[in-house]
Amino acid sequence: MSNVHLINHPLVQHKLTLMRRKDASTNTFRTLLNELSSLMAYEVTRDMPLQDVEIETPLETMTGRMIDGKKLVFVSILRAGNGILEGMLNVVPGARVGHVGLYRDPQTLEPVEYYFKMPQEMQERDIIIVDPMLATGNSAIAAVARLKQLKPRSIKFVCLLTCPEGIAALQKAHPDVAIYTAAIDRQLNAHGYILPGLGDAGDRIFGTK
Ligand code: URA
Repeated sequence: MSNVHLINHPLVQHKLTLMRRKDASTNTFRTLLNELSSLMAYEVTRDMPLQDVEIETPLETMTGRMIDGKKLVFVSILRAGNGILEGMLNVVPGARVGHVGLYRDPQTLEPVEYYFKMPQEMQERDIIIVDPMLATGNSAIAAVARLKQLKPRSIKFVCLLTCPEGIAALQKAHPDVAIYTAAIDRQLNAHGYILPGLGDAGDRIFGTK
């Protein structure tokens, strides 16, 4: 499990448990996801480089330290990834945002790209991919492969939940990509859902079921 960061802060664990409950309303689920995403943003940005910046306090000049937020790109894997964006942007408002849309071809079961929109100058940027569930890993693997074509400085992957199968698949394909997650659940079921999990993240965020 090298390169896997389990975010086990008590606030994160508490909110995640509330989200998993089947009777959590769409509104509750989305609010908690928003809060949790801000907390996860703290963890995933922990090693971000800082720049020295000369500022004036009311008393004197000093050298402060600041993140260059514009170098950071949050890439949402559609559609559930969008549920994480707002909470992350609340704490890194200067970050740019990209979107990747993938669907699974019913014949080949391979991910097919239907949407891809990124900011300019990706070679200078650090990417944080967001998707609530790292399950089979197929979408994550395809998204990382596509983003690597743009030669970004770095790529990290943030999810709420994953399972041993998802971690193994993503690490095998992209061992250089660090995975940040709030939980590693027991297993995948035959339909590619995480157990015990929280159900279909997209449906729960957008109230589509
Ligand atoms: N996607 C989801 O939304 N839930 C799962 O359990 C697995 C993949």
